[in-house]
Amino acid sequence: MQILNNISLKPYNTFGIDAVAKHFTSVSSINDLKQVLELDRFPNKLILGGGSNMLLTKDYEGLALHINLKGIEIISEDENSAIVKAQAGENWHEFVLWCLEHNFGGLENLSLIPGNVGTTPIQNIGAYGVEIKDTFESCEAINLKSLEFENFTKEECNFGYRNSTFKQKNKDKYIVTSVCFKLSKKNHKLNINYGTIANELQENGIKNPTIQDISKAVIAIRESKLPNPKDIGNSGSFFKNPIIQKSEFDKLIENFPDMPSYTISDNEVKVPAGWLIEKSGFKGKQFGNYGVHKKQALVLVNYGDAKGSDIFKLSKLIQKTVKRLFNISIEAEVNIL
Ligand code: EPU
Repeated sequence: MQILNNISLKPYNTFGIDAVAKHFTSVSSINDLKQVLELDRFPNKLILGGGSNMLLTKDYEGLALHINLKGIEIISEDENSAIVKAQAGENWHEFVLWCLEHNFGGLENLSLIPGNVGTTPIQNIGAYGVEIKDTFESCEAINLKSLEFENFTKEECNFGYRNSTFKQKNKDKYIVTSVCFKLSKKNHKLNINYGTIANELQENGIKNPTIQDISKAVIAIRESKLPNPKDIGNSGSFFKNPIIQKSEFDKLIENFPDMPSYTISDNEVKVPAGWLIEKSGFKGKQFGNYGVHKKQALVLVNYGDAKGSDIFKLSKLIQKTVKRLFNISIEAEVNIL
């Protein structure tokens, strides 16, 4: 294990922001990880997974710790299902493809989400009607104080919409080192109710889709709407979709009859932030080398060597404008550092 100095974090964040870490190391074994965590001289650490959910607004003065733990294994299986364990540093999409090659169902709707396995429970990643919590079995995490490993069940993770205990009570207290999923081996429960998936399958003439067909449909939809971080720096949805009171929504819909919404409970409604941002006039707006994506207003993009602080300022302007026009507060989904 080697500690390097003054390393650019550009390859380690999907926004492609060229911030510098004063110290940097990458760990590919649990032993190395423990050794690094024992070093007193680095009290401040920035944990780097796939770097797909962060905006670096300045250089980092502490130690950037890249989690590069690899490995996928079947822990147990019976004729109906399998428990599969993936180490935190596995690329998420490659893991999904591995599951599909083994005909293990449950993750196909989550195809092509950037990032690594270890960060998926932190914000309970979700797309096209499925969230990680639906197949999550447990995860292992190292306690940053005691340096002991602890196991978290689904209940203990306290999953919510883009939320978990690792963003609440246990924020910055653990590093997730591996995640177990319970996946189906037959009679897969298909989730094709999300409008665009059904359309995509229909357009391709697929009547009885397999999990592999669903994955292909999701990949096609994502590729048509969301920028690939390899081509244009971005962090997926920059904001969460806000949940507002039904009474507020009823007032708004009078002025904005085309406002889409999803019912959350008897008195709560979720409104797509992308729609609010588009209506606020930001969709496709470019400010020099950064801006708002042309096809999905929820995604802020770095077209070149943008500074994280500029993108952050843009996000604040968007929040302010949405608040002024709709009286709705939209919250960043990405971590601002
Ligand atoms: N919309 C607009 N303008 C836009 C974007 C969206 O009007 O620029 C409208 C759409 O027409 C649609 C509604 O907003 O009526 C919802 O749009 P979409 O289905 O594209 O999904 P989203 O709510 O914008 C969420 C997730 C995405 C996920 C998709 C698909 C959040 C914050 N985002 O986006 O997740 O892929 O649903 O399930 O919940 C991510 O987290 O990085 C991410 C991409």
